[in-house]
Amino acid sequence: MLRFIKFTLLILLMVALAGVFFGVLAAPKGSETKGRHFFKDTCRQCHTKGAVGGELTPLNKTMAQWRAYFAAGTHNHGKEQLSKYLPPDQLLDASTFLINHAADSPQPETCGK
Ligand code: HEC
Repeated sequence: MLRFIKFTLLILLMVALAGVFFGVLAAPKGSETKGRHFFKDTCRQCHTKGAVGGELTPLNKTMAQWRAYFAAGTHNHGKEQLSKYLPPDQLLDASTFLINHAADSPQPETCGK
């Protein structure tokens, strides 16, 4: 009986560890290449110099600021959801692009300017 309990506990532990392991591996990661495209195609419609949203490039924020911005998920001074402009998977890609090329990132980028 004791052996059975030990065995069961061992199996449970392994299942739990596997869950953590694959949970980390499967954590959503956006595509930077696609994100650049979505950002230029959608966000830049309103975010160039003189446009309604004003000039916006990855350099406008630091990596931490972009992360916080997309975690909050609101746009235009909290008036609306960012998901109004891009579906969640494309938004994830766009955020990956912006974070990876933020002002304090290893590869800061101005979006082809
Ligand atoms: C329909 C036009 C439009 C589109 C499309 C648009 N924005 Fe905006 N955005 C605005 C306006 C307007 C503001 C407010 C500008 C101001 O403060 O003067 C704004 C503000 C922002 C700001 C400044 C902080 C804030 O939210 O107030 C960020 C960052 C931003 N937009 C990111 C994005 C991203 C990322 C996308 C693409 C997913 C996007 N925007 C698409 C119009 C747009």
